[in-house]
Amino acid sequence: MEVVEAVVQTPSCEPRLPAALRNRIDREFSARWTQQWGGKFVLHGRPAGPGAVRLDGNDYLGVTGHPEIVQAQVSALRQDTEAVVQSGVFLLDSHPAHALEKGLAHWIGKEDGFLCQSGYAANLGLLQIIADEQTPVYLDSLAHMSLWEGARAAKAPAHAFRHNDPAHLERMLQLKGPGVVVVDSVYSTTGALCPLREIVEVAERYDSIIVVDESHSLGTHGPAGAGLCAQLGLTHRVHFITASLAKAFAGRAGFFTAPASMRYYTLISAFPNIFSSSLLPHEVAGLAATLGVIRRSDDARARLHANTARLRSSLSDAGYPIHQGTEQIISLEAGTESAAMRLRDVLEERDVIGSIFCAPATSKNRAMVRLTLSAGLTEAEMAHVERVAREAAPILQPWDWPIARRARAMAGRS
Ligand SMILES: Cc1ncc(COP(=O)(O)O)c(C=O)c1O
Repeated sequence: MEVVEAVVQTPSCEPRLPAALRNRIDREFSARWTQQWGGKFVLHGRPAGPGAVRLDGNDYLGVTGHPEIVQAQVSALRQDTEAVVQSGVFLLDSHPAHALEKGLAHWIGKEDGFLCQSGYAANLGLLQIIADEQTPVYLDSLAHMSLWEGARAAKAPAHAFRHNDPAHLERMLQLKGPGVVVVDSVYSTTGALCPLREIVEVAERYDSIIVVDESHSLGTHGPAGAGLCAQLGLTHRVHFITASLAKAFAGRAGFFTAPASMRYYTLISAFPNIFSSSLLPHEVAGLAATLGVIRRSDDARARLHANTARLRSSLSDAGYPIHQGTEQIISLEAGTESAAMRLRDVLEERDVIGSIFCAPATSKNRAMVRLTLSAGLTEAEMAHVERVAREAAPILQPWDWPIARRARAMAGRS
């Protein structure tokens, strides 16, 4: 109990927490705090210095501060409008948000779509309206938490299939029947690409709906950045595409596509759209301008992919086991939370800033430092990260991380 008192300080203005809650915090949290994290919050390192290379954001194409986007936001803020803050369900079809929804959907190759307050809200709202108690939801075991929460909101039976394993998905569909198949296009913890064609084929064979979360491929992959489904020519075979607009769009919103025939059903059914207020006019204006910038960003996309190939190759050469992924998210999976903290500190001391991902974002003892690349990294910054990775390898011995040992054991077996 003493640990709880130390962690959850109870200033005099706060009533004492009930014993049940104090016990829960003690049970679920206090041991991590004291034993694994050494009394420091696991996710907070030191403040990044002025020369630090930031690999902890998702602005993949470096659009933040783009003059066209800023100008659009400022004009919208300055405009004397009649706009009121209200739920999306009230916005007329003539509202600028709907023009943006159409614009995003058509760019992706779909009929219509819905803006949401976040990617989290988009996934929750979509799953809530397409699944129910009788409709099983099959999720890749690494699918984003918001998709699992969507299945929960729908009260649907949720089944995990093995990561990127269409054969396992097929066995589950055989066993439990048609439903909704849910995958990420690029997985947010590992940078692994989904075997989308195979997954779509399995879903089609079992007459199931397929949902693809394109948060980490919208803007970065496909023709004019229209995403992985577009790149693979699968858009017309995928029922719903969702995305956070807090990644390549560097905004504060989410989106999902839906057939035009579902418009009013969605408006009156998706809870985040009814019970929470919609985006502000300057956010809509900023996102509309961002869409224009992203469509024209072929050079930035090429730079992002070149940076990805280069850093992945340098890190592998230096002995880091990064074989789980191929895309612009690179996970350095140190294992325990304390090992991830040490890794983060070693990198931060050398001005390379990543972010720790641990439970509940990863499974237990698969904690990692996630590095995300962007098109905006300069040659000097790339060279600095490569230098630091080489210098840190003998200190960190990444070839001895559990994930490296597992990979060697698997290779030995095959
Ligand atoms: C794959 C994926 N989906 C959804 C989300 C949620 O997005 P947002 O931050 O916009 O709520 C994220 C962000 O962590 C993500 O990585």
